[in-house]
Amino acid sequence: MNIDRNWWKNKIAYQVYPRSFCDANGDGTGDIKGITSKLDYLQSLGVGLLWLSPVYRSPMDDGGYDISDYRDIDPIFGNMDDMDELIREADKRGIKILMDLVINHCSDEHEWFKKALADPNSEEAGYFWFVNSKDGAPNNWRSMFGGSAWENVGGDRYYMHLFSKKQPDLNWENPVLREKLYDMVNFWLEKGLGGFRIDAIVHIKKMEGLPSGPADNPDGMVGCFAYARNIDGIGDYLTELRKRTFDNYQCVTVAEAAGVPNEQLVDYIGKDGYFSTMFDFSYSEPYNYGHGWHTCKGPGEWSFRRWRDTLYASQLDTQKIGYGAVFLENHDYPRAIQKFIPEKDHCPRVQMMLGNMFFFLRGIPFIYQGQELGMTNPGFTSIDVIDDISTKNHYSLAINDGLEPEKAMKLVARYSRDNARVPFPWDDSENGGFSASGVKTWLPVHPDYKTVNAAAEMSDPNSVLAFYKEMVRIRTKSEYAEVIQDGVFAPILKQYDKLIAYTRTLVGKKRLAVICSFSDKKRKIKLPFDAGALVLSSHDEYSIEDGVLTLLPYQSVMLEI
Ligand code: GLC
Repeated sequence: MNIDRNWWKNKIAYQVYPRSFCDANGDGTGDIKGITSKLDYLQSLGVGLLWLSPVYRSPMDDGGYDISDYRDIDPIFGNMDDMDELIREADKRGIKILMDLVINHCSDEHEWFKKALADPNSEEAGYFWFVNSKDGAPNNWRSMFGGSAWENVGGDRYYMHLFSKKQPDLNWENPVLREKLYDMVNFWLEKGLGGFRIDAIVHIKKMEGLPSGPADNPDGMVGCFAYARNIDGIGDYLTELRKRTFDNYQCVTVAEAAGVPNEQLVDYIGKDGYFSTMFDFSYSEPYNYGHGWHTCKGPGEWSFRRWRDTLYASQLDTQKIGYGAVFLENHDYPRAIQKFIPEKDHCPRVQMMLGNMFFFLRGIPFIYQGQELGMTNPGFTSIDVIDDISTKNHYSLAINDGLEPEKAMKLVARYSRDNARVPFPWDDSENGGFSASGVKTWLPVHPDYKTVNAAAEMSDPNSVLAFYKEMVRIRTKSEYAEVIQDGVFAPILKQYDKLIAYTRTLVGKKRLAVICSFSDKKRKIKLPFDAGALVLSSHDEYSIEDGVLTLLPYQSVMLEI
C-alpha cells in the first residue's frame, strides 16, 4: 500500500469532550449520537480531524481516561454501532476521527487487573507494576493527582499508579502485554480511523530499580517526573509500537508528550520519529503550582517574557525537526483567557486576539470545543458540582493544609479542569440545547449560555465564531494557505513587552506577519518591514502611518509583507 504520511498537515483539528458536547438520549451526559448529530456544525467550521476524548468502557473515575474495556464503548456514550456510524458519517464530510489512546494505564476494573489482583501468579499480574514491600510503599513517588503513587492491596503487596489509584500503570516491560496492546490498536485502525491522540505516553518507561528520590515537599514524597517520564530506553517501546501498528496504516499520531526536551524532538517527531506530531506543553501553563493549587506561585509571578520566549523556542526548535501540534485549550486546563488575561479585560475581542496568536503558528492547530465561541470559566461556587478527580484532590489538599473552604473554592473556580468541561452551549433554550429541557446535566450549564452559544454566534458576523471561521478559511482556502502551513516561523519585535509577533515566510512566495498585543493600553509599534494588505484584525479600527502601527488594547493584526 502506498501510504501518504502527510495527508493531515493541511487540516484543522478539533477536540470534543464527549460527555459535554451533545446529549442525544436526554440522560444529561453527551454521547456519540450527539456528536454525529453535530457533524454539520463541525464541517461548517472547516474541521478535518476530530479528536474524541475517551469513549471506551470505563468507570469514569478520571472521565474515561480509566479504561475497563478497550474494545467496547461505554453505555453512557452509546455502543459500537454508534461509533461505526460516527466514523462513516464523519468520513462523508471529509472529517477523520482520532480516538484517544490511553495505554500508560487502564482501569482497576479492567479484567486484566481483576485477574492480577486475584492471583499474584497469573499472567495478568505481570501486566502491572506489583511490588512486595515490607516497610510501606516501595518508593516515595508522588502520583500526579496527589498522594503516593502506590496502593496497598493487602499484606505487603502494592501496585503503582502514576495517576489515580483507579488507574494502575501497565508494565510495558511485559512482552505479552505489549502484544495485546498492539492488537487492540490495530483493531481500531482497521475501522478506518484517522489515527490517535496518544495519552500520557511519555510515562510508559519507569526508571530501572524504581528508586526513591529526595523529598521535594513536607509530605516526604518526590514528583514522579524524574523517574517515570521520558526515561532512557522509552524509544525501544515507542519504535516497536509504531512499527507494529501505525506504520501499516495511513494514520496520524498526536502524542501528549510533556517534558520532552527540545533536543529530543527529533526522536519523537523527526523523519523517523515515533509519532507524526506532538503537543508541546512548555508554554501552555504560566503557573508553578508547587505541590497543590494553594501553594501556586502565580499568576502574580508569571512573566510574560518568559512565557513568550518559551513559545518562540518551541516553534524555532520544532520547525527544524518536524511539524508540531499547537493548541490554546484542552480538557485539562481552565479556559485560556483566564490563564493569560486579567479578568477585568475579558471580552470577545480578546478571545479573537488569543485565537489569532495561536492559529497561525507553525503546526497543526487544535481547537477545543467552545474555544471557537470564546467560552470562559463558568465561575464554580460549590465543590459539590465538581466531578474532576484532580480538582477534588487539590481541594482536599488545600483544606487539609488549613485553607478556609471559601478560599479553596476560589482556587477551584480558577484552576479546575471542569472549567472547560461544562456542557457545550448550542442555543439559548434550557440547558443551552445540550440536553433536553428538564434534564439535569452532568455538570452545570455555563451561566452565560443565553448569549454565548453556537446559534447566536452563527448569526452574528462579529462573533468569536465568525472570527474562527475566517481564520480557518485563511488557513486552508486562501492564497495564504501555503505559507501558513509550511512557512518558516521567526519572532519579530522582541524589544516590545506584552507583544507576541512573528513572521511566516515561504521564500520567493508569500510572507505574513502576525502581531498580537497583550497590553491594556493603546500603543504604537514601529514596523521593521513595509506592510502590505491587512489579512485579519481582531478589531475594526486599524492604522499604519509612516511605518508605525497603532494597536488598540489587546488588538491583533495579520499583515502581508
Ligand atoms: C492525560 C489526559 C488527562 C488524564 C491523564 C491520565 O493527561 O489528558 O485528562 O487525566 O492523562 O490519563
